[in-house]
Amino acid sequence: MDIDEKKMVDIEEEIRSLQLDSGDATEMIAEDNNEVVNAEDETAQHEELEKVDKMEEDSKEEVHNQAVEVEKKVKEKENSALDEEATFEKELPKKRHLNVVFIGHVDAGKSTTGGQILFLSGQVDDRTIQKYEKEAKDKSRESWYMAYIMDTNEEERVKGKTVEVGRAHFETEMTRFTILDAPGHKSYVPNMISGASQADVGVLVISARKGEFETGYERGGQTREHVQLAKTLGVSKLLVVVNKMDDPTVNWSKERYDEIESKMTPFLKASGYNVKKDVQFLPISGLIGTNMKTRVDKSVCSWWGGPCLFEALDATEIPQRDPKGPFRMPIIDKFKDMGTVVMGKVESGSVREGDSMVVMPNKAHVKVLAVFCDEDKVKRAGPGENVRVRLSGVEEEDILSGFVLSSISRPIPSVSEFEAQLQILELVDNAIFTAGYKAVLHIHAVVEECEIVELLQQIDPKTKKPMKRKVLFVKNGAIVVCRVQVNNLICIEKFSDFPQLGRFTLRTEGKTVAHKRQAESVGLQCYISWQHDRRDTTTAPSLETRATEVGSAIGDRRSEIGLIGSELATPTAWPQILPCLRHLDVLPRPSAPPLRPPS
Ligand code: GTP
Ligand code: MG
Repeated sequence: MDIDEKKMVDIEEEIRSLQLDSGDATEMIAEDNNEVVNAEDETAQHEELEKVDKMEEDSKEEVHNQAVEVEKKVKEKENSALDEEATFEKELPKKRHLNVVFIGHVDAGKSTTGGQILFLSGQVDDRTIQKYEKEAKDKSRESWYMAYIMDTNEEERVKGKTVEVGRAHFETEMTRFTILDAPGHKSYVPNMISGASQADVGVLVISARKGEFETGYERGGQTREHVQLAKTLGVSKLLVVVNKMDDPTVNWSKERYDEIESKMTPFLKASGYNVKKDVQFLPISGLIGTNMKTRVDKSVCSWWGGPCLFEALDATEIPQRDPKGPFRMPIIDKFKDMGTVVMGKVESGSVREGDSMVVMPNKAHVKVLAVFCDEDKVKRAGPGENVRVRLSGVEEEDILSGFVLSSISRPIPSVSEFEAQLQILELVDNAIFTAGYKAVLHIHAVVEECEIVELLQQIDPKTKKPMKRKVLFVKNGAIVVCRVQVNNLICIEKFSDFPQLGRFTLRTEGKTVAHKRQAESVGLQCYISWQHDRRDTTTAPSLETRATEVGSAIGDRRSEIGLIGSELATPTAWPQILPCLRHLDVLPRPSAPPLRPPS
């Protein structure tokens, strides 16, 4: 029998033994506990037998015995809870675990830094590095050899650009890290979103090379977009590494480092980070590996007295999550391997072999056959862990990324419409935001087209209180509560219950009708504040007012009203809005496609 066959037989046996065990998780726990409490209970059982004899003689004692029985059961339960706790402690790995995502503008050095971390932590040997050096040279990408450790596919190596989020593991004395190397190129922002949604800590890589910091930081550069997305996606701490300090245009210059720090700080504050508590800057060279595992030598950089990257990562604290909460694991990917294997990060609760769970929103009841953390099979995994879970009871093709593996008793809600509070960050072409606005919604692993069906309330950014007047449209910077509709059921939570699953981002992708160009910027940052049932929206109020306000809001660009209208009006509102636009004497530009009611 070759190794593969043996492995197959082992796995089959494992599946069979789990399937034979008809009990669910609670039953399994009860069995375990019986074993542990048996010794202690022997005397109790003996006593109980005696009591049973007496019971036959004296019926009064029966009542007493029942009370003893109840007491014993309560004790057993307490013991079992304590025991479960102890088993859980044993099963959880000793070191804490952190998910770190590398973000930042294209070519900032994310993959190089990630690769260097693996090299410095002894996971890549010199021979492999030499092989990559040769391969990179053959592809005329000499300086990319370190990035090749993270960029593993051919397309990435040829282009020198990360496409898929790279995943690797390393350990320091205190912590096990999963590193997620996100792509910086604007075309792959959805992949970056998926990477960041799995992380608690972000390493924002900024190139200090002359001109590169500037391009990354300017509007349309990914430095800004990544920071805003990371904040929205729940990356609570940021290490801002000022990279390429070795570059001849930088040469470990304190002035350049200070310039970058002083320009980034107000922006990070405006993006919602508490710069004193949640952000740490440090200079490195990812390519050479300086100030990474050990502090930079004074002969290289005399002015830096702070930590190196490994120290800073080790010192990062993240909020504790509740391992006993209802189980939630958004599914990022799935594949077939002796069952259906789903991958994702546990956001709440714990999972262990033998658990019965439900996949939402399709309500498929499943059984957990095995749990893997990094490369290792584990008995149980808690919140924050990136895991692979082998399931029975569901076919791989019946699962989509964005589905959520969930506890049966408290499954995650699935909705097609919800109310949310949005903060408008940057609308494409400075347009207006009103009912009918369409965008792509990103929440945990979900990517789904959505439409804003009604604006409900505008929130005063200063007082954070709802404003009195009726809101028909808003512009950049506004905070607005609105109703959002999606075509397919999606799994979300209230922000107040599970921030990680109640926070989303809207982006507008593809072409805007008016200018026919790629939209690059983050549209909106949103927080789901509450949900409720579908409401009737067929009567959009005062469309004439809306059209007039649209006109005055756009000012000089009134000629675009028609086009914006065609994008924004809900189907039911369209027949009414069209005459209003005519009434305003606003016509589409001749070059634009003809106005037509949305289907
Ligand atoms: P994307 O994945 O495309 O977003 O890029 P990235 O941020 O992963 O950058 P990558 O690691 O691929 O590096 C891009 C280029 O910058 C390569 O040529 C690297 O050699 C170079 N580079 C990265 N880090 C350093 C550094 O510390 N010093 C110098 N001099 N060059 C660096
Ligand atoms: Mg990369």
